[in-house]
Amino acid sequence: MRAGETYNDKVVLQVSVMTVIWGIVGMLVGVLIAAQLYWPALNFDLPWLSYGRLRPLHTNAVIFAFGGSALFATSLYAVQRTSHVRLLSDKLAAFVFWGWQLVILLAAITLPLGLTQAKEYAELIWPIDILIAVVWVAYAVLFFGTIAKRRVKHIYVANWFYGAYIIAVALLHIVNSLQIPVTPLNSVPVYSGAVDAMVQWWYGHNAVGFFLTAGFLGMMYYFVPKQAGRPVYSYRLSIVHFWALIAIYMWAGPHHLQYTALPDWAQSLGMVFSLVLLAPSWGGAINGVMTLSGVWHKLRTDPILKFLIVSLSFYMMSTFEGPMMSIKTVNSLSHYTDWTIGHVHSGALGWVAMISIGAIYVLLPRLVGVKEMWSVKLIDTHFWVHTIGVVFYIASMWIAGVMQGLMWRATNADGTLTYSFVESLVATYPYYLGRLAGGVLVLSGMLLMAVNMVRTLQSAKAPAANPVLEPDAAEARA
Ligand code: HEM
Ligand code: HEM
Repeated sequence: MRAGETYNDKVVLQVSVMTVIWGIVGMLVGVLIAAQLYWPALNFDLPWLSYGRLRPLHTNAVIFAFGGSALFATSLYAVQRTSHVRLLSDKLAAFVFWGWQLVILLAAITLPLGLTQAKEYAELIWPIDILIAVVWVAYAVLFFGTIAKRRVKHIYVANWFYGAYIIAVALLHIVNSLQIPVTPLNSVPVYSGAVDAMVQWWYGHNAVGFFLTAGFLGMMYYFVPKQAGRPVYSYRLSIVHFWALIAIYMWAGPHHLQYTALPDWAQSLGMVFSLVLLAPSWGGAINGVMTLSGVWHKLRTDPILKFLIVSLSFYMMSTFEGPMMSIKTVNSLSHYTDWTIGHVHSGALGWVAMISIGAIYVLLPRLVGVKEMWSVKLIDTHFWVHTIGVVFYIASMWIAGVMQGLMWRATNADGTLTYSFVESLVATYPYYLGRLAGGVLVLSGMLLMAVNMVRTLQSAKAPAANPVLEPDAAEARA
């Protein structure tokens, strides 16, 4: 081993800081569009502030800028520690960091201008798509190259999940973005009709499955045992969890297209795979939660652990709800309603955001060589503000969603509709206010996190130079 070798924590720190910043930006746009749904005049008649343009800005910012940064930070941190080596290349790491920031900047310019491919979660125009593919391949080389030069025999399970997310996202992005450029800003898809819809939702669902789930499960398998100070509950279960999840997720996409022009058998197949998906999802979450066996008392005093464990309960909730919503009869009620939005945010704000926030709180002090965050009490306040905010958000949307579904299908004895669409909108308004309140709470929590982060960075004397740890003799690679 090269004496004095340190981990490349510079890139991890950069991208951790950006996670907090993009989290605030993305959620601020979320709060703005939530307010616009209550007070439509908040678009000030400016096209670039209109709901239709800001909504994709919100989804791209929270998923790819906030979630993506959390995934970059934690995967690059964990792969170095579990492989006992520095990242493959510092230059490549810097390229991945700056390349991704450029993608985000271009998204922030083009989406408000209305430049879009009009495919949900894949809105960005073709030149940006090419940049994403290049940066992603560089990230894959960096991650797998680091694993290849590892000094231990074993590849820890967190890296399997991170690896699967990196490979799957490359595949999804490239296949769904196949377009024929017409002008520098416009293109037409190579697919058409029902095939286009199917490819889009194969992408959309697996963006949830691999970007918003598999990568964050990698985070769970590294950070929950670390923070609990216990090995993962069952290593055998983690392997079954991995293969089951990978095998099943890919086939569930058609549940986004129930009662459409997609062949009926494909819709039913999507529903069946979605129902089966409940088992590995819960198996994995239970594996994470049970890691606390013997140290449950830590939950009383450690707010970071609270973030990590409560995120798993939201994960279980959304992966129970999802399979239920994929059942065709349930979907006939939930589709087009705010129930879907409630489901999305129990996964996004409950699972994705909470596990990311917890992991970043674990990382930050270690990256700058201080013992803990500036204020543990502030983390606890953040935890409660966030949790109450999420509950406000999702409870409002569930009630609103089920109410809308029931109002739309209610008929009078003579077969006419009982309610007009406008009546259902009027009935929804109070719940939009409830959602807005929840969003404001969540956003305030992120601002507390930013204060805590700045103070922690200020308290560090010098950037930490964390030495690469020697592996145990029994684990070491020949
Ligand atoms: C302060 C926090 C947030 C607020 C106030 C908020 C608000 C909103 C609003 C108002 C919508 C549009 C709903 C509609 O069209 O009816 C939306 C959509 C969406 N948000 Fe958020 N959001 C927040 C955080 C997040 C986070 C952290 C994520 C992901 C990690 C996320 C992911 C999404 C997604 C994927 C959609 C599209 C859902 C769909 O098309 O079904 N949001 N959000
Ligand atoms: C077993 C796991 C899951 C299953 C089977 C599932 C199933 C579903 C179903 C049936 C829908 C409604 C489709 C529609 O009517 O249009 C949906 C929407 C959605 N789910 Fe899930 N879900 C799961 C987990 C999750 C998780 C953990 C997240 C977030 C981290 C998530 C994010 C989303 C998003 C963003 C949408 C909205 C897509 C859109 O229309 O834009 N899901 N899911």
